Amino acid sequence: MNKRESKSPGKPREQWVTRIGLVLAMAGNAIGLGNFLRFPVQCATNGGGAFMIPYFIAFFLLGIPLMWIEWGVGRFGGKYGHGTTPGMFHYLWQHPMAKYLGAIGITIPFCLILYYTYIVSWTLAYSVFSFTGKYFGVHGHELMANFLSAYQGTVKNQFFNGIGTAYLFFLITFALNIWILSRGLAKGIEWLANWALPTLGVFGIILMIRVFTLGIPDPAMPANSVMNGLAFIWNPDLTALGDIKVWLAATGQVFFTLSVGFGAIQTYASYLKPKDDVALSGLATASANAFAEVIIGGSIAIPVAVAFFGLQGTQAIAKGGSFDLGFFAMPLIFQRLPLGELFGTIWFLLLFLAGITSSVAMAQPMMAFLQEEFKVERKTAAMILGVLMFFLMQPVIFFLGHGFLDEMDFWIGTFGLVVFAIIEVVLFIWVFGADKAWREIMTGADIKIPRFFLFIMKYVTLTYLVVLLGVWLAQDGLDVILMKHVLPENYIYVWFARFLLTGVLILMLVLVHIAWKRKHRIKQVVP
Ligand code: TRP
Repeated sequence: MNKRESKSPGKPREQWVTRIGLVLAMAGNAIGLGNFLRFPVQCATNGGGAFMIPYFIAFFLLGIPLMWIEWGVGRFGGKYGHGTTPGMFHYLWQHPMAKYLGAIGITIPFCLILYYTYIVSWTLAYSVFSFTGKYFGVHGHELMANFLSAYQGTVKNQFFNGIGTAYLFFLITFALNIWILSRGLAKGIEWLANWALPTLGVFGIILMIRVFTLGIPDPAMPANSVMNGLAFIWNPDLTALGDIKVWLAATGQVFFTLSVGFGAIQTYASYLKPKDDVALSGLATASANAFAEVIIGGSIAIPVAVAFFGLQGTQAIAKGGSFDLGFFAMPLIFQRLPLGELFGTIWFLLLFLAGITSSVAMAQPMMAFLQEEFKVERKTAAMILGVLMFFLMQPVIFFLGHGFLDEMDFWIGTFGLVVFAIIEVVLFIWVFGADKAWREIMTGADIKIPRFFLFIMKYVTLTYLVVLLGVWLAQDGLDVILMKHVLPENYIYVWFARFLLTGVLILMLVLVHIAWKRKHRIKQVVP
């Protein structure tokens, strides 16, 4: 546990090559399906303009402070040769428990990738379907929903007669992920971010321009306009602010979209040099993500849906679930646009690029963990990860219709991240110490963060998180835990999902245990 351990021999850690590459990779980490699929749905179902107020409040009081904390914790751990939270927490809190708490920070991103990658593969498939016009001629929301269900293999109909196509696109997406990871930080992840993020930006702007030039598609329905779609998001509506649901939804979205509370930002930040800036870069990442979300994401799906389906229609579509706007409404609209095949291809490719730059970020903690704590070669680490991922993804793929994915998303994407964020703030700001934490964040900083942010981190962020967890547990959490909304025939699948998640957590705890035991032995042999 002493500092000399940091100078431990062995291969030097990987590093980012350029600063712009680093920021693009971090932006790629944060900008994902959440920005373009989840955000519009959350915003539309929670009152539009009413949603945006708690959204920005959570962004400033939780999002940005946590972003700085995670960058700080990550770079700090990197100094000691640790790219994952078991090692990082070990140095923050000199207690045998610390490393086990850190195991949550590998479990969460690893479990997330198991279902996120599958969704990313749908976007690739749909970009091909747009290009070839496969869904052209499928009219109406319900038929579009049947199209997706048949693709996912939960029903058979004229569109697909099995899960084969979906499985093929899963294999392609999965292989691409592993290939990028096996090439390493600079040649894989940074290389990908360097071209994928600018491409994504261009795609986003093309789609925005297309949406803004739509005007009023149906002159008989003048209220259905792009302008009204934008007004829906941007006219603040104070009446819904008393609704705690809106606050919960907005806060959850800020977490999910920024990738904070997952253990993944820390890993990317661990590849910084000890004196590299984290203050400005962290802020740049959060801002780039917010821009991609509220400006680009907010200017595509909602306004275009309002223009074609009206305000009420759009809200009804969004209520259907996270995929209804992106996978049903958008394809219906593309069919009515000149060059719709092209715009459809661009939309789904945008989603794919956003998704894959996030999915590699979810995998990197596990990669770093294997490489650093078990001294496994990078290529071997990618192979181990690949085998694990492959097997654990099968239930997600085949039990999709039984709520398997939803159950995982609940524990990982709603519950786990808040708990993990609380642990992290307590360890860094309270246990490690507020002043030391502040110094850690401000070392090498290119901007001066006002010190009241330390006050926010210490009291406001933490209180906010604890209250959030409590209220949410009382409101919805217990119902979900007790499976109030699950059909009895699906109980078994939900339990299987829980069993799988618990299994992964136990596996990570055991691995952490073994890794530390081995280190101890090595230290005794080589004094
Ligand atoms: N922020 C990503 C998105 O908007 C999703 C995400 C959540 C993520 N947690 C993560 C990505 C951890 C990488 C690592 O889609």
